[in-house]
Amino acid sequence: MNFTKILTNWYSVNKRDFPWRNTKEPYFIWLSEIILQQTQIKQGLPYYETFVSKFPTVFHLAAAQEGDVLKLWQGLGYYSRARNLHFTAKHIVKEFNGIFPNNYKDLIKLKGIGDYTASAVASICFDESAAVVDGNVYRALSRYFGIKTPINSTDGIKEFKSLATTLIDRKNPGDYNQAIMEFGAIQCKPQNPDCQICPFNDSCVALQKGLVNTLPVKLKKTKVSNKYFNFLVLISSDKQTLFEKRTKQGIWQNLYQFPLVETKTSLDQSKFKTHPLITDYLQDIAYEHSLYNEMDIVHKLSHQHLHTKFWIIEVDQLPEKGVSISELIKFPTSILISNFIDEFNFTI
Ligand code: ADE
Repeated sequence: MNFTKILTNWYSVNKRDFPWRNTKEPYFIWLSEIILQQTQIKQGLPYYETFVSKFPTVFHLAAAQEGDVLKLWQGLGYYSRARNLHFTAKHIVKEFNGIFPNNYKDLIKLKGIGDYTASAVASICFDESAAVVDGNVYRALSRYFGIKTPINSTDGIKEFKSLATTLIDRKNPGDYNQAIMEFGAIQCKPQNPDCQICPFNDSCVALQKGLVNTLPVKLKKTKVSNKYFNFLVLISSDKQTLFEKRTKQGIWQNLYQFPLVETKTSLDQSKFKTHPLITDYLQDIAYEHSLYNEMDIVHKLSHQHLHTKFWIIEVDQLPEKGVSISELIKFPTSILISNFIDEFNFTI
């Protein structure tokens, strides 16, 4: 038996039952694939279920407010995916009467749909032989074929895509794609895969050569930079606070946050009152302040570590119109801020 046949046989026995595996409806497949790019299946499943129940069709999603979509996405990270999801739903409704394009070439033109998602939707929904290559596929192929080309290099991306394209089951491309991803997720796992029970253990190059723990090869990306964030949590005597929409381009665009002052280094408690950026922001306001977290909370993003302090600033009156503290949880925000809101006792 060849690779493809062994793999699809393995899948027919081992596949897990998920709601998106019982449909070919492009809306559900698209939604599930966008969510699953963000997280593992276990964490992604409840998000998928919530999205489907709140927005059962692309028309419902298109009609939603962006803030509500971001709120449901909260915790998944990489919020541009949610903004693109909403944008593309509106586009499909407005331009195509709610009907998804039925091929790779047209799917990939849509915002937020790249090679991976276009291949997944085209193969699962429309039986097109477009091979998916995600982290699971890179791992399974690099190990089985003993390929050392870095998976995040231009050459590697081309090599793995063309190999995957030669392997795909042309009669059943959707199942084949899901099979190889499932195989990478539960059998050819990143750490300590159980090669004893693997259907490929007589022909896997990595296993024969002792390379299971070295493959796949990944190039180290540019090093991370450090940023120092100070969130100013103003609290007025009538329990209002300032919570602003972040308009700046970037990962947190359109999410809400407390006023943010970024400093060059971690701001020392004794320097707070006199730091020019703080005096500039708080100008003539009379306030009492305290520091919520003595140790910086470090929020790690792919290229940045955000060293964060939350400063509690009690004032009689806010300098501008605020929102009621009890309403805070209604706003879409980053997980960094929502954890703070959950943990901080706002009853002072
Ligand atoms: N990971 C992301 N999408 C998947 C799918 N459709 N099947 C298996 N694993 C996946």
